[in-house]
Amino acid sequence: VFAAVTIDIDPARPGAVINKNIYGQFAEHLGTGIYEGMWVGPGSRIPNIRGWRRDVVGALKELRVPLVRWPGGCFADEYHWKDGIGPRDKRPVKVNTNWGGVEESNAVGTHEFFDLAEMLGADTYVSGNLGTGSPQEMSEWIEYMTSDSKSTLAELRRKNGRAKPFKVDFFGVGNESWGCGGNMTPEYYVNLYNNYETFLKAPAQYRPKIVAGGGHTNNRWTDVLSKGLKGRTAGISYHYYTIPTGNWDVKGSATGFPEAQWMSTLVNALKIDTSIRENVAALEKNDPEKKIGFLIDEWGTWYDVEKGTNAGFLFQQNTLRDAVVAALHFNIFHAHADRVTMTNIAQMVNVLQAMILTDKDQMLLTPTYHAYKMYVPFQDATSLPVTLRDNVEYRVGAASIPMISASAARARDGKLYLAIVNTNPNEASDVAVNVAGQNVSGASGQVLTAAAMDAHNTFQQKDAIKPAPFKAKAANGTLRLKIPAKAVLVVAVES
Ligand code: AHR
Repeated sequence: VFAAVTIDIDPARPGAVINKNIYGQFAEHLGTGIYEGMWVGPGSRIPNIRGWRRDVVGALKELRVPLVRWPGGCFADEYHWKDGIGPRDKRPVKVNTNWGGVEESNAVGTHEFFDLAEMLGADTYVSGNLGTGSPQEMSEWIEYMTSDSKSTLAELRRKNGRAKPFKVDFFGVGNESWGCGGNMTPEYYVNLYNNYETFLKAPAQYRPKIVAGGGHTNNRWTDVLSKGLKGRTAGISYHYYTIPTGNWDVKGSATGFPEAQWMSTLVNALKIDTSIRENVAALEKNDPEKKIGFLIDEWGTWYDVEKGTNAGFLFQQNTLRDAVVAALHFNIFHAHADRVTMTNIAQMVNVLQAMILTDKDQMLLTPTYHAYKMYVPFQDATSLPVTLRDNVEYRVGAASIPMISASAARARDGKLYLAIVNTNPNEASDVAVNVAGQNVSGASGQVLTAAAMDAHNTFQQKDAIKPAPFKAKAANGTLRLKIPAKAVLVVAVES
């Protein structure tokens, strides 16, 4: 018998469209996430386009980043947008109180952010300041960005170099209002949200979708907010970080970890599924018409910072384990595509589970970057139900998770794509794939794996881990795949 596991795909019962924004990114004014990592300024000797690093922008373009969230995070609730417009040498220097207490030059502001998003061809998600701002400040930012009138603020935008309104796709009202955003209860926040949201006015064609800042750990914020929101709200956000030990004081190392921490990391990553189910249940109860999305606008691995780096910069290496964590999340997001219509990994460059790491003029692509790139065909694809039979458990001590995770979708190019993760770092898996009503002939795509659980790229060895081509044949209409240990695979299934 060939197969240990059988995957049945049913193209006749398509599910929801996988919103491309599930593959969104998050870029905060934090550490070297923006300054150094992406923004070097137009006068830098590092090649740049109007201040944005040419190498990093090029790599992000190839990733087809659909959406970028900016400027925070915790930073957003202390950000005053007027500090970031006008001539750069006249902008006030502030202290980044959340992240290392370093100086914030305000060199990157509204115009620079939209320049980046437009270069990437990405939608935009701007986080507004609820914690230390005011309804007036927030509504004026919206007016500045979106008004096509001759108002003083719209004219100021023109004077600063932008004739037409910016395209603000999403606008968030506060961030982590239960914590760094103001230590509020959900009952208090929902009143404030309704107050602020009332004044977020924009011409219909430029009006962003408004996002209410939700909770973490359980569904209480989603429940209270979805009962109490009065305005037009596109979604309620949620944050979920994967920490190997589950202990914020000693989170675990990004590299050199034991197998027990490979396992605990994957166990914790998979808990996002329970979080989604619980929160979606609250939404189904309070919003049965499905007007409100469940938007996971921060997620990813969070380890102890690399030795010798600023603890406030959240700089960590990124290994094969991170790629596996990302792919497990993607497969779960696909299964919940009707409500989960946006997510943003934390964060894009040099911070937490990053796509790209930089060192001066050097840049490397992380395993997480490769996972995102392999999953590009799933952007705006139609999810297809997959059933796994005889899935075995991968065990370490008392911990146990399914060895195989999978998802499938019909992409916009008409092809059927299948993604498979083998969570077991020690054993390959034989997988048989049947597509109902189709005589499958083969499959081709890419596989990402390596000899070590913590395989990663360094500035000395930038391609230590990268995807390899993968091809397989079918026998009697059934596809036979050998999935290596600790691997992420994405293939187009051919009939
Ligand atoms: O992503 C880093 C931080 O994590 C964000 O600023 C905050 O929202 C969360 O606590």
